Amino acid sequence: MTIAESYVEFGTREARGVSPTYERLSLASSRDEELLTLVETLPPAKRQPNLLFGVVRLLGGPVNDPTAFRDFTLANWPAIEAELRTRAVQTNEPGRCAVLLPVLAALPQPLALLEVGASAGLCLYPDRYAYRYGDHLLGTGEPVLDCALTGTAPPDRRPEVVWRAGLDLNPLRVTDPADVAWLDALVWPEHAHRRARLRAAAAVAAADPPLLARGDMVDDLPALAAQAPAGATLVVFHTSVLYQVPAPRRATFAEVVRGLPGHWIANETPDVMPHDALPEPPDDALYNVLALDGKPLAWTRSHGQAMTWFG
Ligand SMILES: C[S@@+](CC[C@H](N)C(=O)[O-])C[C@H]1O[C@@H](n2cnc3c(N)ncnc32)[C@H](O)[C@@H]1O
Repeated sequence: MTIAESYVEFGTREARGVSPTYERLSLASSRDEELLTLVETLPPAKRQPNLLFGVVRLLGGPVNDPTAFRDFTLANWPAIEAELRTRAVQTNEPGRCAVLLPVLAALPQPLALLEVGASAGLCLYPDRYAYRYGDHLLGTGEPVLDCALTGTAPPDRRPEVVWRAGLDLNPLRVTDPADVAWLDALVWPEHAHRRARLRAAAAVAAADPPLLARGDMVDDLPALAAQAPAGATLVVFHTSVLYQVPAPRRATFAEVVRGLPGHWIANETPDVMPHDALPEPPDDALYNVLALDGKPLAWTRSHGQAMTWFG
């Protein structure tokens, strides 16, 4: 896929219907040769539209008007390039707990949670958030995670979590204002509700910070998993992580995780975690597949806003 095509893909499949601002920006950028020539000087992993848009927002640049965005980007390229080279897309979306919950609630309790690619660890608190599946409410307090659920009954309990740990190449800290500013810049412009829940979830995490280890999902997973307490069900999970990992490492990771005790929950796009047979997705939007121990269970939207259980 060319860079221009990847910007079209992001605009039409990820941003369309979710962020008109990023859809507009991504499609305009895909036709802008001068801008794409600059982007092309970066390593492939640093060319993603949402990384570029997030950095421009972090630096106070405009994203509402594609022309103003382009002028700002061209005029400030050295500063933007420096940020792009050091930062990565580490969007931490606690809303994804809403699609993990039906599986987590059905496992033998209590749970020892180990999230791979945890960012700041906000998905490690599924027991502390409140949920709204249509008119079915679960839990109290903030944040309330909304999820349109079809094909299965909503969970009737939250899990009991006795241990939570995250593994990430670059863990972010909800107690560090610079890290929180970057997480905030990664939230898409119109998504005031996501910004509010990021703040609410960060407050939950800051009150009882998780164990966050710096390390790689293949090399460092067994040692961290070995720290989980006996008497709890170990659950290794990951959401929206494998697209950042080269294919051979993804395969090795799957072997490592299958060798661990407990359960494995994956919430990833089918191009990075293929399954033998999948039903048709509900529409053309980009979907993750939720899988338990390698068995695909449901299509899920990328911010946890919807989930369609397989029949
Ligand atoms: C898009 S974020 C998703 C964060 C979180 N899972 C969520 O859904 O909110 C992907 C995270 O995976 C981490 N990551 C990428 N490759 C990794 C690897 N090989 N080992 C550990 N973490 C990795 C990144 O640093 C980043 O924080």
